[in-house]
Amino acid sequence: MDFAAIKGFKDILPAEIEPWQRLDRTVRAVFGAFGFREMKLPVMEWTELFSRSIGQDTDIVSKEMYTLHDSKGRGMTLRPEATASVCRAYIQNRLHQDGPVQKFFVIGPMFRHENPQKGRFRQFHQIDAEIFGDPGPRSDADLIVMLLHLLDSLSLSGLTLHLNTLGCPECRGGFRDALRSYLKDRSEGLCEDCTRRAGTNPLRVFDCKAEACRNLVLKAPTILDHVCSACRDHFQALQTLLRDAGIGFEINPRLVRGLDYYTRTAFEVQTGHSGAQNAVAGGGRYDGLVRQLGGGDQPAIGFAIGVERLIALMNEVAQPRTSVPDLYVAALGEEAARKAFALVAELRKAGNWVEMDYASRSLKAQLKHADRLGAGRVLILGDNELAMGKGLLRDMGSKTQEEIPLDGLVDRLTRMLGAEARIRADKDA
Ligand code: HAM
Repeated sequence: MDFAAIKGFKDILPAEIEPWQRLDRTVRAVFGAFGFREMKLPVMEWTELFSRSIGQDTDIVSKEMYTLHDSKGRGMTLRPEATASVCRAYIQNRLHQDGPVQKFFVIGPMFRHENPQKGRFRQFHQIDAEIFGDPGPRSDADLIVMLLHLLDSLSLSGLTLHLNTLGCPECRGGFRDALRSYLKDRSEGLCEDCTRRAGTNPLRVFDCKAEACRNLVLKAPTILDHVCSACRDHFQALQTLLRDAGIGFEINPRLVRGLDYYTRTAFEVQTGHSGAQNAVAGGGRYDGLVRQLGGGDQPAIGFAIGVERLIALMNEVAQPRTSVPDLYVAALGEEAARKAFALVAELRKAGNWVEMDYASRSLKAQLKHADRLGAGRVLILGDNELAMGKGLLRDMGSKTQEEIPLDGLVDRLTRMLGAEARIRADKDA
């Protein structure tokens, strides 16, 4: 074997695809009901878009970006997240002109050069949702209600919503100073990165994975002691709306999220499992980002779900379903194979999943193939049956066969297979 996939880049094979497809359908149904519209965006952007949005001192920008350079030496980066790209598209395409409040979602791969481990990949997928044009807190609550409604629709349980506020540029300054002085007094305990961050961007010390730094921030001042009255009111109003909607949450004053653009509301949905990979989804408000990227004053809030982590949870609840063909058509003899080929095309056009053999193998081999695919019925067409205008329909479960006239066959089989498929779907539901 000359090539294997790159470390941290994963194949998603047919046997694993069912929950991906189910998730896709559920997302479209749920997000559609909340008025979100889908966008497809490039996977690569100018590096500066990410460094300016996410922040130079973050792990993502300082360590994890896949960057290459064009012939003029300009940096281009595989997107590590979608928010910056959605903002860029929103500004560039003047989407604010479509209406004061705009709701978008993006589904696709993201790239971060992290150490691969369980639940952490270098290419992973996100379902990203963003609302532009409303300062909250009702849009904050609506977005969170949508996220939890999605998780509920997938029958997931054991998840906790963690909530915090990160204040605004006014109150963040006081908090930053308090944190800086707390860290300065304890600088010997910090790792090399955090020693630097303690001066430049002390909030990022909260993201550090080193145990000593994690222990140190446990007793650090929190933003909740520093928020201004407007940010406090916003946070309280959000909590009231969530309680009214019957949504439970935990206030987590140490939840700062690993990206610099957040203001006020920050949240994560976490599993009960311990470890750094317990966040299934995370998001928050970023009221200053559109302006910072050259757009107007547009408040915004969003979240992203980690698809691989969500699918791992879906697979804990239910084994992926394998679907089976409605019918296998087995032909014996060249004439019958020609007729079978055309018939299969017609049956497929009518919406049936039909399989056949490409290689004119023996009936025994074709029946074995049908069995391996899990087809419940096989239509056997031999030159002799054809001459009499008939085929044989074999039930693979009971191994019984009956003659079936070729006249009106497509309609009759389509009705029969459709009814069987409905019974199967009801049993699965
Ligand atoms: P994030 O917390 O960096 O936020 O990523 C969101 C989710 O993506 C995480 O909770 C996790 O489930 C998943 N994730 C992140 N990195 C990896 C990885 N290496 N492997 C597997 N899954 C991963 C954002 O990306 C923000 N853009 C969210 C947002 C949208 N904020 C506002 N709008």
